[in-house]
Amino acid sequence: MSGQRVYEFFTHSVEETQRLAGLFGKMARPGDVFTMTGDLGAGKTSFTQGLARGLGVTGVVNSPTFTIIKEYMGRMPLYHMDVYRMGDSLEDLGFDEYFYGDGVTVVEWPRMIEEQLPPERCEIAISRGEGDRRTILITPLGSRYEKLCEAIYDEYSGD
Ligand SMILES: Nc1ncnc2c1ncn2[C@@H]1O[C@H](COP(=O)(O)OP(=O)(O)O)[C@@H](O)[C@H]1O
Ligand SMILES: [Mg+2]
Repeated sequence: MSGQRVYEFFTHSVEETQRLAGLFGKMARPGDVFTMTGDLGAGKTSFTQGLARGLGVTGVVNSPTFTIIKEYMGRMPLYHMDVYRMGDSLEDLGFDEYFYGDGVTVVEWPRMIEEQLPPERCEIAISRGEGDRRTILITPLGSRYEKLCEAIYDEYSGD
């Protein structure tokens, strides 16, 4: 994909990461899919918590370590998947019902189910810097996500 724009954000605290993520939650629409990559401790779950808050989820969002999919309710459902445990068993657990459903899906460790991901999605990659610094690279795949990222980039840098 030549010319694919990548949006780059730098945060200095978990709160800052969650404020950015909250904008995604606020502007999310049914059927949106976000993938989260990054090493352990990078901030994938922290980002998801911010996104959940932006969606109006009031309960505690934590890593779905023992279940593959956790569901929360905000102004629409949030499906939080951590498919790390699926390993090589590329079993299809009916992911499409989530991806093309009426909620927002966040997938941690998307590489495990790469073939099953929708072609249009928003890829979020977090990497650690010194201390609490993080670099967050966001790649929108599809025009829906390009518009979303553009709007968020403007809003986030604007205040
Ligand atoms: N800028 C930052 N963005 C996100 N998390 C941060 C940041 N600075 C420090 N942290 C801390 O890093 C940890 C990230 O953990 P977590 O979100 O569970 O990572 P992951 O899900 O990627 O394994 C949390 O303890 C969080 O408070
Ligand atoms: Mg996690």
